Amino acid sequence: MNETELILAIESSCDETSVAVVENGEKILSNIVASQINSHKRFGGVVPEVASRHHVEQITICIEEALTEAAVEAKDLQAVAVTYGPGLVGALLIGLSAAKAFAWANGLPLLPINHMAGHIYAARLVEPLEFPLMALLVSGGHTELVYMEQDGSFEIIGETRDDAAGEAYDKVGRVLGLSYPSGKEIDELAHQGEDTYDFPRAMIKEDNFDFSFSGLKSAFINLTHNAEQRGEVLEHKNLAASFQASVVEVLVTKTVKACKTYPVKQLIVAGGVAANRGLREEMARVLSQELPAIKLIVPPLRLCGDNAAMIGAAAHVELQKKHFAGMTLNADPSLAFQHI
Ligand code: KG4
Ligand code: ZN
Repeated sequence: MNETELILAIESSCDETSVAVVENGEKILSNIVASQINSHKRFGGVVPEVASRHHVEQITICIEEALTEAAVEAKDLQAVAVTYGPGLVGALLIGLSAAKAFAWANGLPLLPINHMAGHIYAARLVEPLEFPLMALLVSGGHTELVYMEQDGSFEIIGETRDDAAGEAYDKVGRVLGLSYPSGKEIDELAHQGEDTYDFPRAMIKEDNFDFSFSGLKSAFINLTHNAEQRGEVLEHKNLAASFQASVVEVLVTKTVKACKTYPVKQLIVAGGVAANRGLREEMARVLSQELPAIKLIVPPLRLCGDNAAMIGAAAHVELQKKHFAGMTLNADPSLAFQHI
């Protein structure tokens, strides 16, 4: 293999069409992200058919832009990587078809990538990973604590029993009349308010690493509905601050406990909710206080949300192991972690 390894990576699992060129799994040469979020806002969530149509329109343009911006031609590439799950099946299939066509036309191997592994490997675009490590994966569809003994090995040691953290943010946002997705806006509101409502901290004391956010969501909805019926107006800033305080305390407490239980050198916080300022600040504060030897890596905001550079970073491991896929590769909407 050449000393410089270049991978073209494609991501289309949800509402972002993204194509990147990544060097040696750690350096971004380009990372084009075409967001469709404005088309989904008025529906209050991602509409799968609308997502697929947008991906079809954007994918070729994104591939061309990614190559142009990286100043790379197909002949310079070593492989094409693509997200094949988890995600929306129709959306995944657009990226898969484009990746297969590009790989076949240019005689390149195809690397199948797990979207959630991508979120974790976004950290490698920030600094080298040291194993064993712990990753807190928090997105719109997932809330998981993943122990990684080495590159490409994923052990889920805890996960949500019901709603994902991002899902709870989006549902609570809807009750507050915010537009989808509302995590960022609640985060901003929370910083202007105070934790005045006593929301539950579910499972915080239990002897496991699992999470639950549906009780918190129900408590929030009941409180606002009851107030509405009484004609009371609640302070949105304080509601947001109280909700966020509960989510952050549970996530930080359980993650730090996991880091005390497993022999880890680094902690990665990844996924869309890792963009949360409250979570970033509190995780950094508690970790440096209780476990100063463990290095915290939280990717910059642009690498927390869905993007193809993270897929290119994860693909580097797959390429080293020569885990190629054939042209029969299919989308797997509920793909779970497996040892790779
Ligand atoms: O990883 P991601 O971009 O897509 C999925 O794979 O799910 O995550 C999207 C989720 C949404 O639920 C969104 O509300 C949430 O991440 N999110 C945030 C923030 N920014 C995005 N949640 C809390 N605070 C934020 N600042
Ligand atoms: Zn994601």
